[in-house]
Amino acid sequence: MLPFIKSVVKSECNNIHSVADIFAGTGAVSSAFTDKQIITNDILYSNYICHVAWFSPMKYDKKKIQALIIYYNSVNVIADNYVSENFADTFFSLEDCRKIGFIREDIEKKFISREINERERALLITSLLYGADKIANTCGHYDAYRKGAVFERHLQLFVPVPENNLNTNNICYNEDTNELVRSIKADLVYIDPPYNSRQYCDAYHLLENIARWEKPEVFGVARKPDRKKLKSKY
Ligand SMILES: C[S@@+](CC[C@H](N)C(=O)[O-])C[C@H]1O[C@@H](n2cnc3c(N)ncnc32)[C@H](O)[C@@H]1O
Repeated sequence: MLPFIKSVVKSECNNIHSVADIFAGTGAVSSAFTDKQIITNDILYSNYICHVAWFSPMKYDKKKIQALIIYYNSVNVIADNYVSENFADTFFSLEDCRKIGFIREDIEKKFISREINERERALLITSLLYGADKIANTCGHYDAYRKGAVFERHLQLFVPVPENNLNTNNICYNEDTNELVRSIKADLVYIDPPYNSRQYCDAYHLLENIARWEKPEVFGVARKPDRKKLKSKY
């Protein structure tokens, strides 16, 4: 779709300096406009954190990210944690759950102790979310997992490499678009709203859980949190 979207913008629009992708999802459409100011928004924190990783103008230390990802890939975790206690042998194997929980906790500790900044935190969480999603024992969403499946693939993190020279005015939001649109301006707005009335957080609850790291109690076969009891409402 991206070449098509770009060609329509090129032939139909003049003087586009800023692009607002207000239901940005994966950020794929925004990624086609990195030569302009980008405004992203998504109600899912797990999507927002990826937008910060890919598009935020905040500086980060590449070597630090590389060293941490090498360390996370090499670590052997034997202690249980929130992820292994709640998700072992469901969407991921026990070992991968231990590793996911350990890495996510370590990222948060490093952020709280200011060893990493907001962008570095987002880059590491994005790497973890992509790595986890790649090996998840699902059919694309987290409503169900395949019972009795053999966990053939194991967690591996890759170093995200955002484009250099991003526009210094790029902004990423994590808000309800219906509210946000009252206060933002852009030359071009890309509007790709949900395709049905189902909440995305229902299908992607596990990624949202890992991204937010509020460690809610989870229930049922799909191990979803009770949305009424969540600290952040999503
Ligand atoms: C159809 S998807 C967008 C896909 C996106 N264009 C891409 O390339 O990945 C719709 C997105 O809207 C988000 N969303 C749903 N309701 C929202 C709301 N009220 N405010 C902001 N984002 C919302 C969902 O989390 C989802 O990521």
